[in-house]
Amino acid sequence: MFVELSSVDKAKYVAAKRAVEFVEDGMKLGLGTGSTAAWMVRCLAERVQREGLRIQGVPTSTRTADLARELGLEVITLDEAGRLDITIDGTDEFDANLSLIKGGGGALLQEKIVASASDRMIVIAGFDKRVVHLGQFPLPIEVLGFGLKSSQGQISELIAAQDVTGCDITMRMAGGSPFMTDQGNYILDLHLGKIGDPKKLAVALNQVPGVVENGLFVDICDLIVLGASDGTVEEQSKN
Ligand code: 5RP
Repeated sequence: MFVELSSVDKAKYVAAKRAVEFVEDGMKLGLGTGSTAAWMVRCLAERVQREGLRIQGVPTSTRTADLARELGLEVITLDEAGRLDITIDGTDEFDANLSLIKGGGGALLQEKIVASASDRMIVIAGFDKRVVHLGQFPLPIEVLGFGLKSSQGQISELIAAQDVTGCDITMRMAGGSPFMTDQGNYILDLHLGKIGDPKKLAVALNQVPGVVENGLFVDICDLIVLGASDGTVEEQSKN
């Protein structure tokens, strides 16, 4: 699998391969969303085939559910699973506290619910996702369609009073139409530049009526597995 990959995919693959080594027989897993998480699903399926590992997976999106089923993994709902042992997912950015921005793929709501229901969250990423301050990557906010403009106005007022360096908000689009999440909601992307206090911002954003969830994951991730294109892997825990 390794030799034909691009350098970007190699980095994702080695991180995913290392992360699935934490999986043990009988575990219930949260399956993340995105191109790096897709490598994790493939690596997991490989272990299941090779070792006869019995695991059950709760996917965080229909995309991941489709891939997992296609590769022969047993898919269950979070309600069927109850508590999960490990969630393995990608990220758009992470800092030294292992705070994350997620939702580049629009699956932040299910990703946060699933990660929060897990004993451990392992994030897999390339070194390009490591930042000193979160915020270069636009922060996704999942919002209800009802009263969208009103919610956007309140978010705008809120971020103007926060420790951030930017305040633009854009509606996430897909092929000329607003992007719609698996839950039938919309995504606003907040271009904040630098987020001074991710925890405070995460709490404040969820107070706005119409905000379903925000893409800041604070105090949720336990370990980051970083892959490099030369095949090496590094692990980063909380400082
Ligand atoms: C999806 C996510 C993804 O984990 C994040 O966007 C990273 O994706 P990729 O691994 O493709 O870079 O949060 O909602």
